[in-house]
Amino acid sequence: MPHEPRTVRIYEVGPRDGLQNESVAVATADKLTFIGLLVAAGLREIEATSFVSPRAIPQLSDADALVPQLPRSARTRYPVLVPNERGLDRAEAAGADAIAVFTAASDAFTRRNIGMTVDESLAAFRPVLRRATNRRWWTRAYVSTAFGCPFTGRVEPARVAAIAAALRDLGADEVCLGDTIGVGVPSQVRDLTGLVVETGLGLDRLAYHFHDTRGTALANVMAGLEDGVGCFDASTGGTGGCPYAPGAAGNLATEDLVYLLDGLGIEHGVQLTALLEAARFISGRLGRPLASKVGQAGGWDPRTGSPVG
Ligand code: COA
Ligand code: ZN
Repeated sequence: MPHEPRTVRIYEVGPRDGLQNESVAVATADKLTFIGLLVAAGLREIEATSFVSPRAIPQLSDADALVPQLPRSARTRYPVLVPNERGLDRAEAAGADAIAVFTAASDAFTRRNIGMTVDESLAAFRPVLRRATNRRWWTRAYVSTAFGCPFTGRVEPARVAAIAAALRDLGADEVCLGDTIGVGVPSQVRDLTGLVVETGLGLDRLAYHFHDTRGTALANVMAGLEDGVGCFDASTGGTGGCPYAPGAAGNLATEDLVYLLDGLGIEHGVQLTALLEAARFISGRLGRPLASKVGQAGGWDPRTGSPVG
């Protein structure tokens, strides 16, 4: 098995996954301030919002207004979530150039989330991914509930790997496996990584999306790192979850991930002190204390023993 990568990509999902499950509505201007702080902290891939039904996710119903105002630069990618061709049309009109489609490993969850079975979703994504690829957009595909389904329980890892391979075959640049309800443990991550790699999907095209619902997210990241996975999702402030997954609260906090990677000496380009500013800003706007461990305790400089951030 490969060794830990020297550098990893941190894929920030706070403005999307983080905010979609918060009961407090955040103003578009505050979302833009938050995103500006994330960019200032060094994040280069920020999932900005979703072009889904405003009835399904009212928190992100300002997507058409938000995306044209994003602080664009050649170094920053702002993928947006798109469930269907209608969403792609809206994303294109708003000036997006990177998308994420999303299905899951279980029919019960996929039906509740996007009103389709997994097979139906793969068929629906075919034209979406083809159109995006023709425009030379970057594309990602999520497989949610990859470690367990809130409605039907155990998920077969071989099924997850098969869906990942199908999404790769549809042209997705990256496949991201999501532990939507935060039930996974490191041995499952290792099994899944092995099965996915066996399908021929390169480690450079695999990402993991962990929720810390039961405190296993960083252990799971470690299992991914040890097998050479190079991209991990996280949400600054540890906000969020999926409204269609009961008990899914709590994405892995970006500041907790950054602290671990700094300690391991793995490069990622994000500066913890500046990131904590972004975390404090968004938790202030949501009116609640920071959920992250590092947000509560602060960082720590191993050379001086002094607090950081
Ligand atoms: N953007 C905006 N509105 C859309 C849309 C899109 N991309 N796609 C469909 N809609 C509208 C339809 O016009 C319809 O509106 P109406 O009720 O006012 O007539 C409504 O959404 C329902 O669409 P329909 O085609 O009947 O499908 P559905 O009810 O099965 O919903 C989705 C399908 C995909 C649109 C909906 O389930 C959805 O937006 N899910 C997103 C869930 C999500 O983001 N979860 C979090 C990520 S983990
Ligand atoms: Zn999530």
